[in-house]
Amino acid sequence: MALGVHGRRARHVLPEKIRVERAWNFYREMGSPRFICAPMVGQSELPFRLMLRKAGCDLCYTPMMHAEEFAGSSEEEMARQGFATCAEDRPLVVQFCAKTPEDFLQAALQVQDRCDAVDLNLGCPQSKAMKGGWGGALMEEDQWHLVYAILRHACTAPELRIPVTCKIRIFADDRKTLRFAKMLEEAGCSFLTVHGRQRDRALHHAPARWEAVRLVRDALKIPVASNGGVSSYDSALRCLEETNCVAVMVATALLQNPELFLPVTEAETEDDASTTCASGSSKPSLAQGVRHCLMYLQICEREPPFSVRWARDHLRALLAGSSKLDLLALLDAVPTDAALSIPQDMSAFAPERKIHWKEICQDFRDVIKTISVHEGLCSEESRHWRPDLPWGTARTRPALKGMGYSLVVEGASAAQQALLRGAPVSKRFAERQKLKALAIKSCFQAASRSERRKTQAT
Ligand SMILES: Cc1cc2nc3c(=O)[nH]c(=O)nc-3n(C[C@H](O)[C@H](O)[C@H](O)COP(=O)(O)O)c2cc1C
Repeated sequence: MALGVHGRRARHVLPEKIRVERAWNFYREMGSPRFICAPMVGQSELPFRLMLRKAGCDLCYTPMMHAEEFAGSSEEEMARQGFATCAEDRPLVVQFCAKTPEDFLQAALQVQDRCDAVDLNLGCPQSKAMKGGWGGALMEEDQWHLVYAILRHACTAPELRIPVTCKIRIFADDRKTLRFAKMLEEAGCSFLTVHGRQRDRALHHAPARWEAVRLVRDALKIPVASNGGVSSYDSALRCLEETNCVAVMVATALLQNPELFLPVTEAETEDDASTTCASGSSKPSLAQGVRHCLMYLQICEREPPFSVRWARDHLRALLAGSSKLDLLALLDAVPTDAALSIPQDMSAFAPERKIHWKEICQDFRDVIKTISVHEGLCSEESRHWRPDLPWGTARTRPALKGMGYSLVVEGASAAQQALLRGAPVSKRFAERQKLKALAIKSCFQAASRSERRKTQAT
């Protein structure tokens, strides 16, 4: 038996024909997914995935987690790092970044009974990845031997029963991208996602190069997915056609439109024709955004995400295309974990956690209603957006106040509140925040006027 990289004894490697056959079987067993939700730190978490699965998404990736930290973690720690799933959450790929073969395998073994594959992140461009030697840092040619070792170690481990997939970015030189991709295939990768942009920060917003993705697709024998530059259902279809990939993976555009994978004719539209998303348009109307928010919150009550911040970021993104930015600041009214909404020391599995989340979701609904009223989408008196999507009840507010915060007081960031109170703040900050703060103030004044009227009436 030959000595492999890192001096380990090379384990049994299957012939290429069998590896490729297995890769395609794996793809077919997952139902031959065409539309994939990308891994997104803090965003492709369980409730968001469940929402996407109801709207045409065939396969989801978890947010990236650090194999080093994850390996050996308890259930509680895994949940805090972002790993949560349930029976409906399949097919699922769990993504890790890693810098040693042992960590990656250990992390993979921990999740193998609750997912369909594990993915190795080979493209994260952030400076912490570059400094830490993981993600995009492994694209450096002098690190390819390590990438090979990580994959081989996992793919030939008899105890790992699920396949390993990879997600890469392209290089400036297509020939180098092809060499990298072929090396991954040879090392045992069963499914490759190619993000058609380079790692270089200056090029992050450049158009994705689908022609480079197509070259990889044509050169490999395993299934390949294309990622980058898809903003609508039409462009997803165009991407599939131009790259000839089996699937298309989307990140940013799904955050704004979770129904992106539905043909426009199948996507739910709002009653008011003037508020619906035009055919082929990537941006949903505000009315659709409000519906998406309420649907997401309904799922959060059942399967709470770990962090309130994740939920708020989703709501902001879902409304961002259509609501005024200053109104979106109202979402800050619901404090994040650190600000008392969920006690820091509460177990991720504590039953009280769901009770807290019910209240948090009610608060978010209150805020979304306030925005909807302000934008003229519904009246103060309306009780729901749709019979199955009720607004929050102001009933929860006194209870929340009892817990130590009030919606009105938390209606702005600390500096915005200082501004509202007339306390001194820097001139530059004051100018930047003035409009935002006034909008918050007027919304809450309107909300409390209406509550006072209701109380007087009863
Ligand atoms: C909020 C956010 C978080 C992301 N987190 C990850 C991650 O955890 N792992 C990863 O491989 N890529 C991550 N990405 C990159 C996306 O998966 C995707 O490759 C990139 O956004 C390009 O796709 P798009 O053009 O559809 O946005 C993230 C992107 C966003 C917007």
